[in-house]
Amino acid sequence: MKILLEMGDITRKHVDVIVNAANKTLLGGGGVDGAIHRAAGPALLACCSALGGCETGEAKLTPGFNLPASYVIHTPGPVYSAAQHAQSVKLLENCYWNSLSLADQAKCRTIAFPSISTGAYHFPVVDAARIALRTLVRFGKERAINLQAATMVLFDPETYRAYQFAMKELWDELK
Ligand code: APR
Repeated sequence: MKILLEMGDITRKHVDVIVNAANKTLLGGGGVDGAIHRAAGPALLACCSALGGCETGEAKLTPGFNLPASYVIHTPGPVYSAAQHAQSVKLLENCYWNSLSLADQAKCRTIAFPSISTGAYHFPVVDAARIALRTLVRFGKERAINLQAATMVLFDPETYRAYQFAMKELWDELK
């Protein structure tokens, strides 16, 4: 499974599925959640309202409606807690792993992720980037059947640089 980094707006990505950094209600919000709901249209909220929410680290799939992507996977990331760092790490890993599993089961070949939890949920960006990329690599090695490419779509230069740094660190380790 190829892993790509790019800067841009995830709502414009022509992939099989985009991932939404949602909250547990799945009823929309600000940030990338708000952008995805605005771009998908009101049918997405109607669909999400019937899902009964989603636990942190879990993932639920809906159609993409007006989005270029066929599907959206909604996953609430952890609100970062330094006091519970290990739990925050585990929950963020779960977001990526469970979203990849759901996408693979839905026979998706391409998936795009935002930088989950690094906005309103205050997860330190470089730590989150390390977790995201390691989980993508592990899933690609151990489980991917249908998924051929996963793209991290970063919204600003600082976040993009954090993921570039984490990617280089990972390649140096894997070499
Ligand atoms: N495309 C890609 N990335 C985006 C976009 C977009 N259109 N809009 C924002 N982002 C980026 C942010 O810049 C940040 O890097 O997504 C990352 C995650 O930030 P948030 O959207 O704030 O998500 P998160 O930190 O997981 O907080 C989730 O915020 O919007 C609410 O309902 C949401 O309660 C939930 C919480």
